Amino acid sequence: MNNNKTLVAPSLLSADFSQLGEEVRAVEKAGADWIHIDVMDGHFVPNLTIGPMIIKSLKPHTSLPFDVHLMIEDPDQYIPEFANAGADIITVHVEASRSPDRSVSLIKSLGKRAGISLNPSTGLETIENILAEVNMVLIMSVNPGFGGQSFIDSSLDRAVELKRMVNDLGLNIDIEIDGGIKPGNAARVRQAGANVLVAGSAIFGSEDYKKAISEIRG
Ligand code: DX5
Ligand code: ZN
Repeated sequence: MNNNKTLVAPSLLSADFSQLGEEVRAVEKAGADWIHIDVMDGHFVPNLTIGPMIIKSLKPHTSLPFDVHLMIEDPDQYIPEFANAGADIITVHVEASRSPDRSVSLIKSLGKRAGISLNPSTGLETIENILAEVNMVLIMSVNPGFGGQSFIDSSLDRAVELKRMVNDLGLNIDIEIDGGIKPGNAARVRQAGANVLVAGSAIFGSEDYKKAISEIRG
């Protein structure tokens, strides 16, 4: 999927939850590439969000891929439900899975694209051995749990380093960055090697979704 075009994935966490279907249609019309859906369990992160039922109910509202970011402990028990609900890309956290390797295999066995995510303080070496198996790496540029936090600048160096690892291995995988991305810092994120940019508050908090998405895409 990584063909060097920058993809923009609005995070529904900052959308109006009283009208999620309408919000999904609005960002599709405004030029979004993927819909980023944050699933939180109140254990891995200190917040609770949405589950497979809501994802399923949103599916008929858009033809865009659903990029489902699981911030839940022991994700394997729920992966099949998210796959059935309409997730196209399923990302698990390396810190949350008992066996990231097994989680990735499970996601792929269900015919979905598999992502692995790292918190800001987790070393890239933790994913080195499964890099060849994943379709995407998601680098968190805030501590997961909430939208609207400030971008952690050291994430840029991490993206550069990850890109080098990916190139050294001759892999073609998506590099997604999530947290604190805005029109003002998106160029640096793209230059660091990310090709998928998640943005919640910068899109859903703006007056003009189309303008925000195109500025982030650059
Ligand atoms: C944070 C979530 C992010 C968040 C991004 O835990 O994974 O996807 O919604 O929101 P902004 O863009 O507002 O930082
Ligand atoms: Zn996210």
